[in-house]
Amino acid sequence: IDEDTPPKTLSSRSISAVAEYILSGRAKRIVVMTGAGISTAAGIPDFRSPDTGLYANLASLDLPEPEAVFDLSFFKVNPRPFYVLARELYPGNYHPTVSHVFVRLLAEKGLLHHLFTQNIDCLEREAGIPANKIIEAHGSFASQRCIECKKEFDGAKMKEFVSRGEVPRCEEEGGCKGLVKPDIVFFGEQLPKAFFDRREMVEQADLVLVMGTSLQVHPFAGLVNLAEERVPRVLFNLERVGSMGSQADDVLVLGDCDEGVRKLADELGWREELEEKWRGL
Ligand code: APR
Repeated sequence: IDEDTPPKTLSSRSISAVAEYILSGRAKRIVVMTGAGISTAAGIPDFRSPDTGLYANLASLDLPEPEAVFDLSFFKVNPRPFYVLARELYPGNYHPTVSHVFVRLLAEKGLLHHLFTQNIDCLEREAGIPANKIIEAHGSFASQRCIECKKEFDGAKMKEFVSRGEVPRCEEEGGCKGLVKPDIVFFGEQLPKAFFDRREMVEQADLVLVMGTSLQVHPFAGLVNLAEERVPRVLFNLERVGSMGSQADDVLVLGDCDEGVRKLADELGWREELEEKWRGL
């Protein structure tokens, strides 16, 4: 691909190259990495988009800096801002996007080696992607526990507290009274062990798809550099990010990820099936 090809032409021509590679049967172990950009179409703001991103809209919570809302030491002192945000982000009111359903299609066609997501919205599960194929690298709202005694907190009660924007505390006998926090990985916390155990899945990949992430947060962002040099890496994102585009077989599909995924589905002959599955959710 000659250097001066404007990105637009590059992406449309290369999408057919990616489709051809998949249809040739040479892509059997596809690893997908996703971020908040695949859920914005579901109505969930991402973090860093200039105007619409969460970090640009937390000013009302008078945080020392936006990321403090997910910072463990800040949460221990003042859990309220997090619970204001949790009320807005809590799963149950959102619908998976076409991009989520595309990943499910890959799984159903036996092509999904693994999905690594940074998202905490559980939309991958709701889209029907098999749980054993998903790594929620930054945890999720699916469970919660006391940060002191680690006792799990009841899910129904959690929903109650979150819907009222109130801060739940541990009810352990003997009055632990510790703060309850969803099993979301806060800044200052370790990622789940499974994330580190399954990073080798990326080394085994024969195709890497990166969708809707700024690749600003490590160690997740480092995943994209674990694939072997010759393995094609495709970015579906509004803008170029991280090391994407630096390798010969990188493909940049810049723009709305649902649009890019629909173009790829067209080239694969999966478009009808994709739309049907998405409507059927
Ligand atoms: N189509 C394509 N790309 C999109 C779309 C869209 N509809 N909407 C947003 N994007 C892109 C943005 O341009 C940006 O590059 O998705 C990316 C989202 O980046 P972030 O907001 O930084 O989200 P993410 O990469 O998931 O953040 C990583 O940061 O705050 C922590 O733990 C949090 O998991 C989160 C991590």
